[in-house]
Amino acid sequence: MKSYVLKTSGAQAPLSLEERAAQALGPRDIRVRVRAASLNYRDLLIARRAAAGELAAPVVPLSDGCGEVIEVGAETRRFAVGDRVAANFFPDWVDGPLSDAHHAGALGGGADGMLREEVVLHENAWVRIPAHLSYEEGATLPCAAVTAWHALFEAARLRAGETVLVQGTGGVALFALQLARAAGARVLLTSGGDGKRERALALGAEHVIDYRADAEWGATARRLAGGDGVDVALEIGGPATFDQSVAALRYGGRMGLIGVLTGFAGSVNTYAVFHKTVRVDGIYVGSRRMFEALNRALSASRIHPVIDRVFDWQDAQQAYDHLAGASHFGKVVIRVG
Ligand SMILES: NC(=O)c1ccc[n+]([C@@H]2O[C@H](COP(=O)([O-])OP(=O)(O)OC[C@H]3O[C@@H](n4cnc5c(N)ncnc54)[C@H](OP(=O)(O)O)[C@@H]3O)[C@@H](O)[C@H]2O)c1
Repeated sequence: MKSYVLKTSGAQAPLSLEERAAQALGPRDIRVRVRAASLNYRDLLIARRAAAGELAAPVVPLSDGCGEVIEVGAETRRFAVGDRVAANFFPDWVDGPLSDAHHAGALGGGADGMLREEVVLHENAWVRIPAHLSYEEGATLPCAAVTAWHALFEAARLRAGETVLVQGTGGVALFALQLARAAGARVLLTSGGDGKRERALALGAEHVIDYRADAEWGATARRLAGGDGVDVALEIGGPATFDQSVAALRYGGRMGLIGVLTGFAGSVNTYAVFHKTVRVDGIYVGSRRMFEALNRALSASRIHPVIDRVFDWQDAQQAYDHLAGASHFGKVVIRVG
């Protein structure tokens, strides 16, 4: 069984390919032959920690992947050989509140992830991918799409006719754009990327604001939304974009706090949040129940994930480099095996 591994040695290129023994199969486990995996910004952060020698232990990278069931434990009830499945980002988070124990098992971080030929996990960790999606498309769902779903529909309870502000044209942002449009919402999007504006408009964004050229893009979004401002803002940038998101929101608007593109901590205007009685929801990917709800919506709306580029198995490092270059529009995928 071939597997990529991120080493802890402080090597500049910490990703290496290894041959590993097949995992044992427990009575309620299923064995999945992984067909595709996808990258998220988080995977760059973890690879950087590996390069700096900061990982506690070597880890198989990537939370996101999907494939087919090739073996089931004797007491398995939820799946059969041949099912097309993806694992939840937090394998043990089925429903209810998130916990320390769920975090410890996060794939590609606390626990081994999906960039390997076979993965064995308890049957409760898995969901079926929508029938209209390929393996490459299904591999893009577990982190970015579930996060967008959680923020828009579980936390903000987005309604048709409302206006959403989304930042950038990466994985989370484009799933949010597609899902919000399918639900009948208007979408304003910020992008600093060359040539990405027309593509975002074609996907249904009503306006694309260049955040590099317009430092007060929050006020611009508020004006473009009409009325009092946007109803929902997905905060993907982090501390350096937080105040602009609040500026864009209407009184009583909702923010999904998601991203760390500009860092994990920083100075933000807390007064502006309560001045406008804004509600801020912390979002951390999602539970299996949310993933299943997302998949029903994807099936009903026939949404196809936006894939920027698919890399071959032996080119995994190039896939990392491509994501780090930030020229991508949507998801970066690696074929497995
Ligand atoms: N809380 C959670 O559960 C959760 C889950 C998933 C992701 N995240 C976080 O959400 C963020 C996005 O993740 P992702 O995987 O979707 O990333 P990604 O695919 O790498 O996309 C990042 C995109 O964001 C835009 N961007 C970069 N810097 C920006 C800035 N300073 N201000 C505004 N936009 C900027 C760029 O788009 P343009 O070129 O169009 O400007 C860039 O391509 C990351 O911080 C990630 O860690 C959090």
